[in-house]
Amino acid sequence: MTVLGLETSCDETAASVVRLTEGRAEVLSSVVHSQIDDHAAYGGVVPEIAARSHVEMIAEVTRRAMAEADMAYDGLDGIAATAGPGLVGGVMVGLSFGKAAALARGLPLVAVNHLEGHAVSARLGAEVAYPFLLLLVSGGHCQLLEVRGVGDMSRIGATIDDAAGEAFDKIAKALGLGYPGGPALERLATQGDGSKIDLPRALLGRKDCDFSFSGLKTAAFRIAQTCQTEQDKADLADAVQNAIARQLSDRSERALAAYAETHEHRLFVVAGGVAANKTIRATLQATAAKHGFDFLAPPMAYCTDNAAMIALAGAERLALGLTSDIDVVARPRWPL
Ligand code: KG4
Ligand code: ZN
Repeated sequence: MTVLGLETSCDETAASVVRLTEGRAEVLSSVVHSQIDDHAAYGGVVPEIAARSHVEMIAEVTRRAMAEADMAYDGLDGIAATAGPGLVGGVMVGLSFGKAAALARGLPLVAVNHLEGHAVSARLGAEVAYPFLLLLVSGGHCQLLEVRGVGDMSRIGATIDDAAGEAFDKIAKALGLGYPGGPALERLATQGDGSKIDLPRALLGRKDCDFSFSGLKTAAFRIAQTCQTEQDKADLADAVQNAIARQLSDRSERALAAYAETHEHRLFVVAGGVAANKTIRATLQATAAKHGFDFLAPPMAYCTDNAAMIALAGAERLALGLTSDIDVVARPRWPL
């Protein structure tokens, strides 16, 4: 099963060719054009600028992905495109491009949920059998899911306010670190020691598996205003990163304990942009080990948005006969 995947739901225009053979994924190409420079001056993604940039880039990015994979359209079994959730102007660009290519080449179209792409992304770097427990942490989402396969996932917990990546981005902005904030805050934290800074421990020990980051964000904003030196900022960055890691770990622990009661095969996967954070990876790995779970995170390049994860989800859907009608619509909201 060889599939071209397209991703345009936020600020990356991406295309990728992935081959799925007996459950094993091989990435033949993965091209990502980041729009960071287009949005940097605004301190965040501007939807209209994003959509226009996707229009400018999608054909060229796709051409490169096909060339790098040494692939012709008649070598493909289908075309997968993100159909949501995300900035709908951008989603429409990739989805419409995918529809046009599928119609022109007589190939099946697979509309993919962006979150499902993140959910399968660990399978791009290793052979991973279903089912597994997933922590999906990105700029727009923070949730715990039981993943049994494409189209077969159930949510165990989710954030009641901000996503973890959003908290990273907004606190980084308050520290004057620019956009995107996560990687910048991680770099600054390496210079700091946040052990003396007391931040709220939202929902810690609560019996459900939900998350909350708004209290942490408000407290961090307040402390950011009192920072006088670069060292003060680095200390706050370290404290924030540790607080986020601690909450992700505490909420995951509840899910791990419940999951272990009903599953023999114990695997904990973390995916999404925030999974690129080394402190968070290490914390979650230790939490998994404590509960007797194997731990896996996707290769760094497939944590943040990419089209290889969309191509893989598309290939897995295609293998199950789950294709989409050509009139499928782009969805700004689309819970798994
Ligand atoms: O998955 P992703 O590329 O896009 C969404 O689907 O949202 O995730 C982007 C998010 C941003 O909030 C970004 O700040 C965060 O992931 N992120 C990080 C790191 N790299 C990306 N957060 C913390 N540490 C990082 N190294
Ligand atoms: Zn994403």
